[in-house]
Amino acid sequence: MDTIYLDNNATTPVDPDVIEAMVPFLGEGFGNASSVHSFGREAKVALENAREQIAAFIRCEPSELYFTSGGTESDNMAVLGTARRLKNRRNHIIVGATEHHAVIEPAEYLHEKEGFQLDLAPVDSEGYISPMRLRALVSDNTALVSIMHGNNETGTVQDDMPKMVEIAHQKGAIFHTDAVQSIGKVDIDVKALGVDLLSLTGHKIYGPKGCGALFIRSGLKIDPLLHGGSHEKRRRPGTENVAGAVGLAKALAIAEKKMAEDYGRLNDLADHFIDSVLNTIPDVRFNGTRSNRIPQTMNFAFNGVEGESVVLSLDVEGVAVSSGSACTSGAIEASHVLTAMGIDPIVAHGSVRFSMGRTTTREELDYVLEKLPPIIERLRAMSPVYNKQAHS
Ligand SMILES: Cc1ncc(COP(=O)(O)O)c(C=O)c1O
Repeated sequence: MDTIYLDNNATTPVDPDVIEAMVPFLGEGFGNASSVHSFGREAKVALENAREQIAAFIRCEPSELYFTSGGTESDNMAVLGTARRLKNRRNHIIVGATEHHAVIEPAEYLHEKEGFQLDLAPVDSEGYISPMRLRALVSDNTALVSIMHGNNETGTVQDDMPKMVEIAHQKGAIFHTDAVQSIGKVDIDVKALGVDLLSLTGHKIYGPKGCGALFIRSGLKIDPLLHGGSHEKRRRPGTENVAGAVGLAKALAIAEKKMAEDYGRLNDLADHFIDSVLNTIPDVRFNGTRSNRIPQTMNFAFNGVEGESVVLSLDVEGVAVSSGSACTSGAIEASHVLTAMGIDPIVAHGSVRFSMGRTTTREELDYVLEKLPPIIERLRAMSPVYNKQAHS
């Protein structure tokens, strides 16, 4: 069997139709969208068409959509830009405890360097934030609440988001959501969600890397991160990545057609894979929820092993997956997402994420299901702590 790619939450291959749509704007249509001559005008038309298509996909106005270099920049722009704009009136921010680092780190920066109070909204054991617990944190001093839509490690989707937005708005706070993992996989309607800001990126949905967007509700003012030009109405200066924007729009157009079918197929595959892992391997925990989730994401903690060792062992068998642990200054740290869900850091160390994609087949999963149990058994046999536990 060829190599099996089960790391689609990290990134996806660019769809050949997306490449085809982008190529003209890397070649003869290379113009700068700000130039007034015909080259510039052609690029500008392509850029604005892309903006219109993406805006229609998330149900906002084209004038509310700003192109960025991806999810990290969109998140930083939303968190830093909103807080700094409001700092003379409000100096408290709330972010979900399981946010991506692209939200958590700018929030920590605001706390450590710019005097903002910071609260992390707690999650339950499946990764959900309860609106009631959020209500207890929001005050008249809260500038921003940032809670992600679908989690990158567990796939948990915050189905109570409209309620959370209402709670933030009742106190006059701005609401941002990171929808980087949800966009193109589950329906995203900014009007129905009620959010003020929403981040998205191309490379998780078969689009190009280095191109994303931030929805900013009409009338909302945030400080720009960058200064130096009038692009994107001065909110995000820098020559626009026209080919990237065209690719992002095309990726979403493809997703729109395939979303319902992909969702159902991946949901069935996930049920098969999750049940099989739980039935064939002892001492394993499924991390997340089985109800409202992005079905392609499956995260397990294998007691007594290091997630990184499983990743490397599967790589030898031609299977690409990832572990939730991060290597910080030479030490492996347990995933903050899993520990926030109440999982013991030692158990969280054994976590592995399998993230399927549009081309994942049942045969591929069955191959992994054949290779995985002996890998876990071998790694556990080498773990003195696990063996002591097992025999005590
Ligand atoms: C939830 C989430 N937010 C933000 C990002 C960052 O996006 P980008 O890689 O486009 O900067 C990622 C990427 O891993 C993500 O999963």
